[in-house]
Amino acid sequence: AVVEHTFSVGNFSIRQLCKPPMVITAVNNQLPGPTIYVHEGDTVVVHVDNNSPYNVTVHWHGIFQRGTQWADGPEMVTQCPIRPGRRYTYRFSTAGQEGTLWWHAHSSLLRATVHGAVVIVPSSGDRPFPFPSPDKEEILLLGEWWNDDVVRLERDAFLTGVPVRPADAYTINGKPGDVFKCSGSNRESEMYKLKVQANSTYLLRIINAAVNTPFFFKVAAHTFTVVAADASYTTPYKTDVIVVSPGQTVDALMVAAATPSRRYYVTVSPYQTSFPPQPFRDTVATAVVEYADGGGSAGNTSPAPPRRRPVRAPTPKVHDVGTAHRFLSNLTALLRPGQPTVPLAVDTRMFVAFGLGLADCRPGQTKCRRSHAPALAGSMNNASFELPAAVPLLTAHSENISGVYTRDFPDAPPVPFDFARPPGRLAFTSKSTKVRTLRYNATVEVVLQNTALVARESHPIHLHGFNFFVLAQGFGNFEEGEGAKQYNLVNPQERNTVAVPAGGWAVIRFVANNPGMWIMHCHFDAHLPIGLAMGLRFRTDQLQIVPCHHHQGTCLTADSLIEIFSF
Ligand code: C2O
Repeated sequence: AVVEHTFSVGNFSIRQLCKPPMVITAVNNQLPGPTIYVHEGDTVVVHVDNNSPYNVTVHWHGIFQRGTQWADGPEMVTQCPIRPGRRYTYRFSTAGQEGTLWWHAHSSLLRATVHGAVVIVPSSGDRPFPFPSPDKEEILLLGEWWNDDVVRLERDAFLTGVPVRPADAYTINGKPGDVFKCSGSNRESEMYKLKVQANSTYLLRIINAAVNTPFFFKVAAHTFTVVAADASYTTPYKTDVIVVSPGQTVDALMVAAATPSRRYYVTVSPYQTSFPPQPFRDTVATAVVEYADGGGSAGNTSPAPPRRRPVRAPTPKVHDVGTAHRFLSNLTALLRPGQPTVPLAVDTRMFVAFGLGLADCRPGQTKCRRSHAPALAGSMNNASFELPAAVPLLTAHSENISGVYTRDFPDAPPVPFDFARPPGRLAFTSKSTKVRTLRYNATVEVVLQNTALVARESHPIHLHGFNFFVLAQGFGNFEEGEGAKQYNLVNPQERNTVAVPAGGWAVIRFVANNPGMWIMHCHFDAHLPIGLAMGLRFRTDQLQIVPCHHHQGTCLTADSLIEIFSF
């Protein structure tokens, strides 16, 4: 079937944290935005009407976009920004994908409020979930909230070089919970309520839509069985805490088996790995689980007792690397007949050392923002990725427009990275737009080595267009022989975003069978604009035909997007 939506990106006013109402940019006046709920194999058509004052694009995080790479959405990678007053239509298939994904703005910090869930359920009853069917599903979209215009915040950060301040609150389905004590009696109106029936099983679809913060997720007195991550089924994994980094999703079953007369806090607390520590909001978002018929059995007509506070479980410490690593490295893929698993022979191998350093702003480097003053920069193999200013990468590629990117992304850092020695040349980078060409169907292995040049943190590395297998992850330097001994080549978890351990490494493997122009980048929104990214391209003759509605050439002209077309 074809499932069609119209997304109006516009400004609306919302009241949060007991503050006066403020205007934010969101889709269809909702925070989070509308859910795209489809069956596997459905085609999704979304008309995005930009009624906001900002340029925007929408990315369908985790959707492969096979043959529809023009619908992937990252601004200046696959398309021009959608200008205010314009419409752009995305059309793509969900064939071969099941589970929880999401959509978000892929231009500036708008992702903070322009986001929503994508849920793909199995196509029909004859192919149900590969786990006991839940009684009910619940989407829990975790986010960050600023009492501010996020586009202005990002612009200020860009101009001053001072990073955007930590979020003012974390949220669950747009609501911060009762941590902010408003005067008056409506404290709980800012709290999301999950209503449950005793002994029913709930499929929680947990999405980390936060801009810069990984989270610990707990429900007091309840445990989970994880059944999927990043829309890939996992071996059932029992835990009482879920760890989810920006970009990632976790599907978990939760049985409502606690005492029905009580209420229970859902807590979302930050996981912060950086060393030296970076500022973060030391607070917890809350929602509440409430049992139907809680407080009395049928026929009991005595008045309800005064409400007690919900039961609360202790949250992990903000630097609890052990808990995070245990969860993230213990997941394995659910092996299913007929489903491909990890290929054993590698054709292309890259060693990508990445992290935060300083952009070398010597005079004469035209791409530098501020002469002489080195600015914080993200880089991969010492190249700090800069989005093109005028022509999207994919357009430049398919139309053979030169001067937009170069093809010399190196397969290894210029000097080997070593935690035991000073960073040397790796600390300084230059701005460039480098891409790596992949051979169609090659099996690609990438060692992702966190460098910790300026700060040590667990960067969530996201690859567009593919899922990859996470073969192993660990701390310190990746050692060739030793690292390979730890590879899981039987049932490695499949992901589209891997939280590379802080001060450590992860090894990923994927089959390059999806031609396009893709980026791999850190899913901390603060790190993409400063260059923690790289491009991946395929040969031109493997690209799909450019859809006729798509603009050709530069984005700088007034008519850079043609918005009207019909199917
Ligand atoms: Cu969800 Cu390029 O991102």
